[in-house]
Amino acid sequence: MGLEKIKGFIFDLDGVISNTSVLHSKAWKQIAEKVGTPWDDKLAEDLKGVDRMDSLNLILNRGNLQGKYSEEDKLALAQEKNDNYLNLVDQMSPNDILPGVKDFLDSLKDNGYLISLASASKNAPTVLEKLKLSDYFEKVVNPAELSKGKPDPEIYVKGAEILGLTPEECIGIEDAEVGIAAINGAGEISVGIGDAEILKDANIVFSNTKYLTLDHIEKAL
Ligand code: BG6
Ligand code: MG
Repeated sequence: MGLEKIKGFIFDLDGVISNTSVLHSKAWKQIAEKVGTPWDDKLAEDLKGVDRMDSLNLILNRGNLQGKYSEEDKLALAQEKNDNYLNLVDQMSPNDILPGVKDFLDSLKDNGYLISLASASKNAPTVLEKLKLSDYFEKVVNPAELSKGKPDPEIYVKGAEILGLTPEECIGIEDAEVGIAAINGAGEISVGIGDAEILKDANIVFSNTKYLTLDHIEKAL
């Protein structure tokens, strides 16, 4: 396949650019403990890439608690999680960029690729600012304008569209199973970061961001 057709890269943020997936997890764990849903690795994994209200609903469903909370209660719980999360984000700096990511972004710029962000997080612009990476991203998909969250392809279709590219001209990079499904559904090449068993549907998987280079991607395609 090679990189001949590729003109753009579309990035997920949490768990790909920074370790914020761990911070989301910490903040959701506090909410799960508050409502009484048992926390385990499977729940943590299933929450990856899922937007705020869908995440809360997943936590409530796992604890068979769906009927117990009104819409108002749910908004308050989601707000509490976001406050917890933002307290953690506040302490972030460029030191929290995952290994190799800055070099990879530099190499994409040097080689003329366009770059967009396809994060489900409404806090993504704040996190990019904290990491001092905002200038790398020509465009950022606004998750508030989407009708469906990951695994729906919409966010990755938009990620290509805002760069003026077709999906076939783009590579998407994700750490979540639902994110890989979204990239594949959009018709883009999918690169997974993490466990190859969990990300089994990705075209390429790297166990760590430190392996994320144009050379490695080209060789794997
Ligand atoms: C995704 C994270 O990127 O964004 C999820 O993987 C998170 O864990 C989701 O819930 C929504 O984020 P936010 O910041 O809008 O609550
Ligand atoms: Mg992610």
